Amino acid sequence: KGRILSGVQPTGNLHLGNYLGAIRNFARLQNDYECLYCVVDMHAITVWQDPKALAAQTREIAAAFLAAGVDGDKHAVFNQSMVPEHAQLAWIFNCVARLGWMNRMTQFKEKAGKDRENVSLGLYAYPALMAADILIYKATHVPVGEDQKQHLELTRDIAIKFNNDFGVPDFFPITEPLIFGAATRVMSLRDGTKKMSKSDPSDYSRINLTDDADAIAQKIRRAKTDPHPMPETASDAEKRPDADNLLGIYAALADMEKDAVIFEFAGKQFSEFKSALTDLAVTKLGPVGAEMQRLMKDPGHVDRVLHAGAEKARAIAAPILADVYRTVGFLNP
Ligand code: TYM
Repeated sequence: KGRILSGVQPTGNLHLGNYLGAIRNFARLQNDYECLYCVVDMHAITVWQDPKALAAQTREIAAAFLAAGVDGDKHAVFNQSMVPEHAQLAWIFNCVARLGWMNRMTQFKEKAGKDRENVSLGLYAYPALMAADILIYKATHVPVGEDQKQHLELTRDIAIKFNNDFGVPDFFPITEPLIFGAATRVMSLRDGTKKMSKSDPSDYSRINLTDDADAIAQKIRRAKTDPHPMPETASDAEKRPDADNLLGIYAALADMEKDAVIFEFAGKQFSEFKSALTDLAVTKLGPVGAEMQRLMKDPGHVDRVLHAGAEKARAIAAPILADVYRTVGFLNP
């Protein structure tokens, strides 16, 4: 049985992209793998976070994992800062990763923008911490959305270099990304060429997991489309990013192939498709949002899950870190 680790940042609103690209898959994988699902609060502070909001959002993400069906008794649901081995291994990885590798990270370039002199050192080192999140458990598989692919390639490069540099050929596994489903890259509802994101200033660009039926309906009604009827073929859809995105969302929510959705709605009006998509989204997301809200009213329960999860995680991480320290030559007299 393989071992899974994945993480979600407790920053801003959890949206449909996070759900379809990652969190829903967390639950679907849990019978076939040993799973560790982590709320990455240490990643979040690479950009300023209000302390009270950070704590509340950490619980909220944990609630989302549970609401999506992750079994917090069987698997480890925890927050990153509770397991100090992540940070300890990250330092070593800072010394393994090369500046040239970090300079190629597109997410850093996007997040840093033009004001590069003024972003935190942590934002730059972010992907090395992410590699540590994964490899501190020797995780073999990582379910994520498409946008994390480059970070996972870096994780593999770090594993290979560590194994080579220290002459320990199979020490760290070469981790496989698990990027699957019909919506591995959900796009903004306002612009089908831009990724749906927590930080988009327009709330109409995304469906949040906590949106109620009215909000979902309004956002889908207002979602950008083009003036033509629904695409008739997959190649037609590919040329129309807004339509393609909505079709992918429908397919993922309905657990259908995108081609089958295209076939079903070929040549119809967007209004008809949008009302079907609204019904589907409300049916599929409503219960998840409601369960999240229920769990958030019981922070004691969520905290107990996080605490137990951190203990489970530490039991795996501590001996691996001890091995790493020995391998590197850190004296423990
Ligand atoms: P984060 O918090 O930005 O996003 C959490 C997960 O949601 C996926 N995702 C999307 N999938 C499809 N369409 C979208 N529009 C979309 N937006 C986000 C992300 O791919 C991710 O799977 N660096 C990570 C967090 C992290 C991590 C890790 C992940 C830290 N350590 C170790 C895996 C393993 C991030 O910022 O995700």
